[in-house]
Amino acid sequence: MRTDTPQTIYRKDYAPPAYLVETVEMGFDLDPDLTRVATRLTLSRNPESDGKSVVLYGDGVQLVQLRMNGRELTRRGYALGNGVLEIFNAPEQVTLEIETAIHPALNTSLMGLYVSNGNFFTQCEAEGFRKITFFPDRPDVMAKYKVMLRADKKKYPVLLSNGNLIEQGDLGDGRHYALWEDPFKKPSYLFALVAGSLVCQEETCTLKSGREVLLQVWVEEGNLDKTQHAMDSLKHSIRWDEERYGLELDLDRFMIVAVGDFNMGAMENKGLNIFNTKYVLANPRIATDADYAGIESVVAHEYFHNWTGNRVTCRDWFQLSLKEGLTVFRDQEFSADMIGTDSGRAVKRIEDVRVLRQAQFPEDAGPMAHPVRPDSYVEINNFYTVTVYEKGAEVVRMYQTLLGRDGFRKGMDLYFERHDGHAVTCDDFRLAMADANGRDLSQFELWYSQAGTPRVKVETAYDAGQEAFEITLSQSCAPTPGQAEKKPFHIPVAVGLLDSQGLDMPLFLDGSGSAEAFTTAVLELTESSQTFRFKHVKEKPVPSVLRNFSAPVHLDIDYTEAELAFLMAHDSDAFNRWEAGQRLAMRRMLALVKTVREGGQADAGAAGPLHDAFRATLTDSRLDPAFQEFALTLPSETVLAEQLDVVDPHAIHAVRQAMRRSLAQALRGEWQIAYQANRTPGEYSPDAESAGKRGLKNLALAYLVELDDDAAHRLAQTQYDNANNMTDRIGALAALANSSAPGREQALARFYEDFEQEALVVDKWFSLQAMSRKTDVAAVRELMRHPAFTLKNPNRARSLIFSFCNGNPSQFHAADGSGYEFWAEQVIALNAINPQVAARLARTLDRWRKYEPALQQKMKAALQKVAATRSLSKDVLEVVTKSLA
Ligand code: ARG
Ligand code: ZN
Repeated sequence: MRTDTPQTIYRKDYAPPAYLVETVEMGFDLDPDLTRVATRLTLSRNPESDGKSVVLYGDGVQLVQLRMNGRELTRRGYALGNGVLEIFNAPEQVTLEIETAIHPALNTSLMGLYVSNGNFFTQCEAEGFRKITFFPDRPDVMAKYKVMLRADKKKYPVLLSNGNLIEQGDLGDGRHYALWEDPFKKPSYLFALVAGSLVCQEETCTLKSGREVLLQVWVEEGNLDKTQHAMDSLKHSIRWDEERYGLELDLDRFMIVAVGDFNMGAMENKGLNIFNTKYVLANPRIATDADYAGIESVVAHEYFHNWTGNRVTCRDWFQLSLKEGLTVFRDQEFSADMIGTDSGRAVKRIEDVRVLRQAQFPEDAGPMAHPVRPDSYVEINNFYTVTVYEKGAEVVRMYQTLLGRDGFRKGMDLYFERHDGHAVTCDDFRLAMADANGRDLSQFELWYSQAGTPRVKVETAYDAGQEAFEITLSQSCAPTPGQAEKKPFHIPVAVGLLDSQGLDMPLFLDGSGSAEAFTTAVLELTESSQTFRFKHVKEKPVPSVLRNFSAPVHLDIDYTEAELAFLMAHDSDAFNRWEAGQRLAMRRMLALVKTVREGGQADAGAAGPLHDAFRATLTDSRLDPAFQEFALTLPSETVLAEQLDVVDPHAIHAVRQAMRRSLAQALRGEWQIAYQANRTPGEYSPDAESAGKRGLKNLALAYLVELDDDAAHRLAQTQYDNANNMTDRIGALAALANSSAPGREQALARFYEDFEQEALVVDKWFSLQAMSRKTDVAAVRELMRHPAFTLKNPNRARSLIFSFCNGNPSQFHAADGSGYEFWAEQVIALNAINPQVAARLARTLDRWRKYEPALQQKMKAALQKVAATRSLSKDVLEVVTKSLA
């Protein structure tokens, strides 16, 4: 909790540490009520600094004893205040012995050492290590660790830490010990320990070099039937990193541990990854296709961090995207490769871009907008954002688009050659890419330093006489907090030209020097405006611009509805086929929103061209069902809202609903056929092909249920009753929950009874109701009184509170402001328990200025109420202050 005004930390103030740590030895006497931690550090002066003070950070830890070079330090030898312990005029070589006392059972922040369901876990990124002991807790201090764990043998039979197990044994008094040593230098944020009653699935794996490694997935007793998919995902990740990047696992043992109370998805601690149970546990009974895919990508993400994050780490937290953007890019590519097919790769790309548009574009346009490499922060945990992660991944992807796959690989090789074992910056990464390819990427730096989503405007001209087609690209970027003016970015724009048959034309780019024809050209836009000229263009083409979403920008391009339908049907670039359909739908929906705002009806009946285009997609049997599912899903209410200057969530909701009903009505027969054609009888398998079928089938069901008639109710009920997997079961339940089917209440009650024992499924049960159109603020409050609800568990809080506030816009934005009052209450309640989770929820209202005036007023009042709360954490304070600024 805050005691004084929080400070802003600036990137420009970076200074190397005065002392470096060589070795860390720790001894833990684990007890939930009072754990004692004895730490011995050897430090030496850093030649890169002329500081003479040893600076250690501590947060909420009690200092029991402090000795330097064998002598106890008295209060005259050091200063302690504000979380900083400073030892002045320390000698060249220092050995510190620090004893601290902490209270894991009382730690509800889930940072540092805490207890979850009776077991001990740690989370040290970003600054959690200082909640365990005093330490130069900053990522540019890398050291070797030796860790002794001691605990009651009955209660905590399993004792784990980073690296290799050196020794274990009994202590005689009912306690036992384990000694772990990590052979690699690491920053303190990668430290981890786990102690408790856990069981594991283990396998050995032979690496490319022939070395054998031990792989373990640790879970609570009773969950061993849910670990195989995580284990398989780990093995696939190991193989992929060897093949694609020549990167081998450097440890003899690699462990994954699942924990039910966790703030984020997972954590890449060296050799001891700690995961939210949501990203480990799966079997057909409890996990959906999306869960299976999520597990595969998060297991891969954390595993890939071993090289991009751990071996090469961040100099300071402003460089967070150095490891996160890069590692997200790597996990995206991995997931795409795991599907294997071209159409599967495209679907994965569509999914990733949807996340970007749904969450990152709004962030980039709001009061919390920040560059991929931020310039300042109050609380670093607030900067684990979609901008740092997902936009960061787009920035990394652009290198690959500009340099080609081989060029990108050369850059990666040079990056490791130069920086293995070091803490570096985003500039170092960019320079490795540039140097390995003999390219000047200095302008590319603006992607790291400028916030905001650039807008690229496209104008074209065809000269039949000259057989020339010109594309003029112009860029701009709206101001963001602290950045009024933007310089032009270096933007790769992938372009193709379609002939009247819908086939790709061979491209001859004027001035490209190459006589070879290709069908996609990557235009490099580096100025405010540039014209590119294609030669030998025999007829007026339809351009396909920003193929595969080659840059994270808004694209302004004027297409007729006929051209969009044409692209939707023919573009060889699957991403742009999807995009054309989205544009077509968006255009209709925006026009309808305008009508509704002017007092008209949300009559979607006249959406002729859209119905035809959707029908063509739905009935084209050559298409991949997964692609069909995405192509037939309308832009979300959030994405629609982004297109408007003034947001009226009720008008948006009404229009999207009307559109869904009209598509259900107009294509009823086709939906029914698709439903039947995409059933997946027999044993469940989460592979992409079957998952795609289930996805399309459940989309068909969701559309049919929009008609809210007996036939649809029966279809949903039958699917529910016969489901042999969670994807089908929850798909049916969601359909029922949004309908007035007679079996609605009974199905919800039965689902709870059947899965009461499975926390992750109970989360789904809350979340589904929180997002149902039938659930208003009063109903959410009622659900909070359910015995299974608790704010203390982040997954549970997210399942109900976040799902409602972020996933049910029409109810959350109730005209009387009751949703906002509810939001404020929950932010305040969470603030006292878990500042990180509270600050995430606080983000929900950060775009309040975009809403219509009546709602704005009420949102502002709710924000002010939170801002005026006593003992607000700096996490929440930063978010609400910036939102109100
Ligand atoms: N490095 C982790 C990951 O993305 C995220 C951990 C963030 N934790 C936090 N408390 N901010 O894989
Ligand atoms: Zn990560």
